[in-house]
Parts: sequence; structure tokens; C-alpha cells
Amino acid sequence: MCDHVLSARLLDWYDTHARALPWRVPPDQSRLGRRADPYRVWLSEVMLQQTTVAAVKAYFDTFTSRWPRVQDLAAARDEDVMAAWAGLGYYARARNLLKCARVVANELGGRFPDTREGLQALPGIGPYTSAAIAAIAFDQPATVVDGNVERVMARLHAVQTPLPAAKPELTALATTLTPPDRCGDYAQAVMDLGATICTPRNPACGLCPWRTDCAAHALGIAAELPRKTRK
Ligand code: ADE
Repeated sequence: MCDHVLSARLLDWYDTHARALPWRVPPDQSRLGRRADPYRVWLSEVMLQQTTVAAVKAYFDTFTSRWPRVQDLAAARDEDVMAAWAGLGYYARARNLLKCARVVANELGGRFPDTREGLQALPGIGPYTSAAIAAIAFDQPATVVDGNVERVMARLHAVQTPLPAAKPELTALATTLTPPDRCGDYAQAVMDLGATICTPRNPACGLCPWRTDCAAHALGIAAELPRKTRK
């Protein structure tokens, strides 16, 4: 099956099954060209590193009500931001969050860079976050690879190499599948597939839009992948 057909099939699924999340532009509006605010995408992606979607929602609402724009966050007192972050853990992330907000507000006129390189020059933004912001806020064909995406790719292509050795191969497979348009929707569609259907245990293969394309499903080994090197 060619990559274009695969990505189109996933986007069709996303059109009707996208999770409604507070930082997300729903697919019907995204299709009309509406983009998520880079500040909100950045904030959500930093919060979602090592924290679940369910836990992040309330924090995201608190932060964006109190500091609706990056300039507001940049002007906040450090203690107030650290207190609002309490419970999310990993306080280095909160400190980098403030540093980054101040660079964007004070040195970049309040605008986030629209390239992965520009984004990665900012405090606390690495390859994952830069790809997520470039794809979701700027609709660039950046490939977003997190644990969900690695699992989906390992199963779709029945990659038997264990993690972490398989990472470069899984990233390459994810890159090949990334379509040239609707990049932000596509990135979020793979994440939603991994979070709701292609789950680590008991994947719901019967509901999967890629069921008939999935090599692991055909082999009856979806739940066994990705393999992991025993520590
Ligand atoms: N996990 C990390 N980023 C996400 C996003 N934008 N949507 C859903 N789950 C995510």
C-alpha cells in the first residue's frame, strides 16, 4: 500500500475520531486553514513530556487563563509559575519554560520561530518539541516521533528489532509516511491512534483504520511489538 493512501486513510479516521483537547484545533476547522496558537502548542507539548493528557488538561487551562499570551507568562513572577507548575513534576521543565517565554517575548517580539532550527535554539526545546510545534502550529512537514509513534510504526511494519536499537529505523519509517499537507493533523492523528487504539497492551485492532495494512496484525503479533532489549 503506498504511503499516500496510508496517510489519507489515517486522516479520514482523524476527521471523525480526533480527541477534543483544549490546545487543539478540531480537524474540521484545521481543514479550513485555522492553526493552533504556537504559544498554546508549545505550552501543551512541554507539559505533555512525561505527563499524561488527562493530567495535563487542568494545568493547561490554569496556565492559559492566567497567562493567555507568551508575553503574560514572560512577565510572571518565577514563584507564581513554579507554584502553578507544582504537581506536574520535573521542575527543570518549568524553569526552561520561563526562560523560553522570556526569550520569545523580549527578543523575538512575542513570536515563536516557524522553523525547527529556530525553535531548537530556544531553552527546553529539543527535536521532539520543535517537530511538534513546526507541524501543529505551522503545518510544516516535520515528523513527530514519540513513544506512541514508535509503537505504531513498529507494528505497522512488523519491525522485530528491539528498542532502543530500532529508533532510527522507526523514525525513518515515520518520516516516509508523513504527508506533505495536513501535517499538523497527521502528527496528532498518529498520536491519537497510539493513545486510543494502538495501545501498549490489548490494542483495539478491530477499530484501527490501518488494520488491513498492519504487518504485525497480519502476523498476529501486534501486542508483542515493539520488542524491548531486556535491561
Ligand atoms: N501527546 C503529546 N502531544 C500530543 C498532542 N498534541 N496530542 C495528543 N497527544 C499528545
